[in-house]
Amino acid sequence: FLPKKKKQKDSLINLKIQKENPKVVNEIDIEDLKSTNACYCRCWRSKTFPVCDKSHIKHNELTGDNVGPLILKKKVL
Ligand code: FES
Repeated sequence: FLPKKKKQKDSLINLKIQKENPKVVNEIDIEDLKSTNACYCRCWRSKTFPVCDKSHIKHNELTGDNVGPLILKKKVL
């Protein structure tokens, strides 16, 4: 049986991004997307957060996890 604080620390998803903020929120205007595809990090390991830098590949290899980015696709009109 682990003390409550230890259990909470072990369940952290965000290890180091904007830890000074009580909540990390990112807002992106669809109109500002420059290319037709934009990849956003969902593993919280990207060095360019909130943009995916493929750090999820190493995270998945090390942990056996299966996380990947959110890919937004914009139709070219
Ligand atoms: Fe986090 Fe790709 S780096 S999902």
